[in-house]
Amino acid sequence: MIIQRNNLQSELDDCKVHSNGITTIASTIASISTTEQVSTVAPDLSGYRLPPHIIPESYDLTLYPNLNDGTFKGVRVHSKGLSINSVHIDGDASSFEENEQFEVLILTKSNKAVILNGVIEIKIEYSGDMKDRIVGLYTSSYTRKDGTKVPIATTKFEPTYARQAFPCFDEPNMKATFTAHVLKPKKTGYISLSNMPQSTEESNENGVMVHFEESKKMSTYLACFIVCDFHFTSTIIEANNQTTIPLRVFAPRDQIEHTKFALDTSVTIMKYFTKYFDIPYPLPKLDLIAIPDFVSGAMEHWGLVTFRETALLYDEKKSSSSNKERVAHVIAHELSHSWFGNLVTMNWWNDLWLNEGFASYIEVKGVHDTFPEWQMMDQFLIDTLHSVLSLDATPASHPIIQSAITPDQITEIFDSITYDKGASILRMLDNAVTEDIFQKAVKQYLIKHQWGNAVTQYFWDELQGLVPEAVNITDVMSTWTVQMGYPILTVKEEGNEYVLTQKRFLKDYSNSSESNSPYGDKWTIPVIVLGPTSKFFFYDHTLQTFFKITKPPGMKWIKFNHNQVGYYRINYSPEHWNVLAANMEQMSISDKTHLLEESFSIAESGELSYGIPLELTSYLTKYTDFIPWSVASSKLGNLRKYLVDSLDYNEYLIYASNLVLPAYTSIGWDESESDTHLKIRARSIILNFACRSNNRDCLTIAKTKFSSWLNDPIKNEISQELRGIVFNYGIANSGKEEWFKLLDLYKNEIDASEKQRMLQALANVKETWLLQHLIQLGTIEGVNQVIRSQDYFTLLQYISSNPIGTTIVWNYVREKWTYLVDRFGLNDRYLGQLIPSITESFTTNFQLHEMETFFGDNPNAGAGALAREKALTNLRNNIKWVSSNRDDVIKWLKQHNSS
Ligand code: BES
Ligand code: ZN
Repeated sequence: MIIQRNNLQSELDDCKVHSNGITTIASTIASISTTEQVSTVAPDLSGYRLPPHIIPESYDLTLYPNLNDGTFKGVRVHSKGLSINSVHIDGDASSFEENEQFEVLILTKSNKAVILNGVIEIKIEYSGDMKDRIVGLYTSSYTRKDGTKVPIATTKFEPTYARQAFPCFDEPNMKATFTAHVLKPKKTGYISLSNMPQSTEESNENGVMVHFEESKKMSTYLACFIVCDFHFTSTIIEANNQTTIPLRVFAPRDQIEHTKFALDTSVTIMKYFTKYFDIPYPLPKLDLIAIPDFVSGAMEHWGLVTFRETALLYDEKKSSSSNKERVAHVIAHELSHSWFGNLVTMNWWNDLWLNEGFASYIEVKGVHDTFPEWQMMDQFLIDTLHSVLSLDATPASHPIIQSAITPDQITEIFDSITYDKGASILRMLDNAVTEDIFQKAVKQYLIKHQWGNAVTQYFWDELQGLVPEAVNITDVMSTWTVQMGYPILTVKEEGNEYVLTQKRFLKDYSNSSESNSPYGDKWTIPVIVLGPTSKFFFYDHTLQTFFKITKPPGMKWIKFNHNQVGYYRINYSPEHWNVLAANMEQMSISDKTHLLEESFSIAESGELSYGIPLELTSYLTKYTDFIPWSVASSKLGNLRKYLVDSLDYNEYLIYASNLVLPAYTSIGWDESESDTHLKIRARSIILNFACRSNNRDCLTIAKTKFSSWLNDPIKNEISQELRGIVFNYGIANSGKEEWFKLLDLYKNEIDASEKQRMLQALANVKETWLLQHLIQLGTIEGVNQVIRSQDYFTLLQYISSNPIGTTIVWNYVREKWTYLVDRFGLNDRYLGQLIPSITESFTTNFQLHEMETFFGDNPNAGAGALAREKALTNLRNNIKWVSSNRDDVIKWLKQHNSS
C-alpha cells in the first residue's frame, strides 16, 4: 500500500460524513499520518501486525445499529467479518483486498498514486451483522418484569474485536481520537452512549442521530457504543480540587434500585484512586453500565465501563456478602484501569500484565481503603496468590511477559499468570521497597507516559531512581517477569545462622525437564524475616550456593515470609515446623493462612510429610476465622477429590466432619444483626464444609429449609447469606418435582446473582436425566432462550463439579465439540479454559488417555493451547499424587480417627 498526503487537519472538520444510499449502514473515516514513505510488503507471521509507519490520528465513526433486523451499517487496517461497500482515500475511490487469516484490509489508491508523508483521509462504507454474537458490536435483550423483551445494542472490543465493528488500526499503541455518531430509535426512552458526553442530536428518517464529543487519544479496544433504554442513578465526583465530573450508573428500569451500592462504592473508590495516583480522572464523565449479556466480568471502556449484571448490581435483599465483595472488587479493578491501561497503555499485548496485573493489585488497595473491615490484604492470599502459586508450579505455566501475536495467543494471555502472578509480584515489590516509594514510582510512570504507551522497563526505570543504587530493580524484577515459576527456599539452622538454598518449586519433580530459562530457574528473592525489626534481604539469583541470615538475637522462633508477601515457598525441618505449629495462635491471620497453605502444597509435591499440614489443621477446631478456614476448605477439598474413589473415603469423611464440628457448632445457622462481614463469610464456608463432609445435622437443616422455601418462598424466606448452601444441599436430596419448581423460579427471576445461585443448584441434582435436560436447555438460543450465552460455560462448570455430572459433561463436550466451536469460536477465552476446569478432578490413566485422544482428534486448540497443557499437567499430577501420597494420607487419617 502506498499512501500519500498533502494538507493536515483542516479537512477533518468537514469530514463528519454520514452514510448515503440504502445499502450503506455504517461508515468510518480515519485520518492517519505517515511519517515516512512506505510500500506494502507481503505478510509473514508479522502479517498480523500493522506497519508502524502509518499512525491513525482520528476516527469519525457513524453507526446505525438496526435493532429490528439485527444488522449494522457503517492502507492496511484491521477488519473482520464486515462487508466493505466502498473505500475512498482522500476523496478518490480506492480498491481494497481482504486477508481473512490476518484479519486485515489492504487499501490501495486506484490511481496508484504515491502516498507521501503527512495526513491522509480514508473513508470506508461498510455493513455487518450484530446477531448471535457477544463480541464486537452485538445485540442483546432483556426481559422486563411485565414480560416484554427489549433489544439493546452494545460493544466489547478487547483485545481484537474493534475490527469486527469498524475497520481500524486495531493495535493498542495506535492511539487516536474518536468522534462518534450513534443512531438510536425514535421510541421514547432510548439513549445512545459512548466514551464521551453527548454533544448534540438530531432526528432523521431512520431515527435520532446522537453526536458525541471528540475523545482524547485512546486505543481502539477502549471504544464503546451502546443503544438501550436503561435508566440511571447519578452523583458527582471530584476530578481534582477545582472540578467535578458526573458519575452515572445505568441499569434496566426494573433494577435501578440495585445500582445504589455501585454508585456509593464508585465515589469512595474514585476518591482513593485520585489521591493514590495523584492525577485527576482524565475524562469529562464516568458511566458504569450493567449489560445483560456480557462475555467478561467487566470491561474498562474509558468513560463507559461495562459490567455483567452480577458484577455491578447489588440487591440488599438477595445479594450475599460475597456478591457484595465481588461488586466492589470489579468496580475497583475497572476504575483503576482509567489510569493503568487507559491513560497509559501497554505498548503491545506481551506486556498485558502492565494493564491487568497492576489493576488486579491496585484494586485491592482501593477496596481495602473503602472497606477496611473486609481485610482485603489478608484475603489477597485466598483470592489471588494461592491459586496462581499452584498453576505456576507446573510446566504448563509461562512467564509474565509472554510473546503473543495472533488473536488466539492474545486472548490466551488474559489468564491467571498475567492477572494474579502480576498482582502478586507487585505486592512483593510494594512491600520490599515500601509503599511510599512504590506509590511515587507509580505516579511518575503514569505522568511520564500519559496518553501514550509503555513497556515494563519504564516502570522499573521510575523505581530505580527512588531506591538505593545497590538494588538493581531491573535485575531483581526480571527474574520474576521473564522466567516462569518461582522458588522454594529450604531453611537449615546452623549455629546462630539460617542457611537458605533455592530451587524452582514444582508440584511434581519427577517430570521436570531441563530449564531453558535465561536465569536458569534462579530468582533474586526479597526475603523478609520477622524479627525485632522486619527486614528485607535480597537473595541474589547469581549466588550459586546458599544464602545466610544471622538469627535475630532474642528470638525463640522465626517465621520467614511474614504475611506471605513474597512470591515463593519456604520449607523448614520437621522440628521447625512443629515449633511454628505450636506458636500459630500468636500469629497474624495471613501468617496462619500462609502456614496452612504452604505445608499442604509442599506435602503435595512430596517434600514434606502430610502429617505436618494435617496436624496444623487442628488449629481450626478452636477458631472460626474465614480466611484460614477458606484455605483449609480448599486444601481438604483437594484431598477429598483424590480420595473420593478410594475404599477408605469414609476415613476422610470421619476426619473432616470431626474437624468441622466445633466450628459448626459455634458459628451455627442462626444469624445476628451484629455479625461482621467476615463472620458472615465464615459461616457460609463452615456450613458448606460441614454439609460437604456429610454432617447429618447440616444436611437435614438444609433440606428442611429448602422444602419449606420451595413451598412458599415468601413466607419461608431464607437469608441471602444461606441461600447458596440451602439450595445446593436441598436440591441434592430432592427429586424431579422440586427440580422443575426451581427451574420455573429460575426462569422468572430477574436478579442475576440469585439466578446464578439457582443455576448452580439446578446443576447439583443427583438424577442424571435432569442434568442432561439442563445441558439441553443451555443450547437454546433466540427468543426461547432460558440460559444466557454468557452463562453457558458456567453451567457446564457447575454440572461438572457435581460428581454425578463430571462424566456427563466430559462426554458431552467431546461429542459436541464442533457445535461448541461453531457457537462460540475457537478464539473464545472461556471455551479455551473449559477443558482444564471440567477435568479438574480426574485422577486416572484412563482419563489421561481419553484426553490425549480428544486433543489428537481435534488438534486446533485456538485460544485454548495453554489451557490444554494445563489440563494435561494437572491430570498427570493427580495420577502421580494418588500413587505416591494416597496411602500415607489414609494411614494418618486412620491413626488420627482411632485415637
Ligand atoms: N480488561 C478486562 C476485560 C477483558 C478480559 C478483556 C479478557 C478481554 C479479555 C477487564 O479489566 C477485566 O480484567 N475483567 C475481569 C474481571 C476483573 C474484576 C478481574 C474479567 O472479565 O474476567
Ligand atoms: Zn482488567
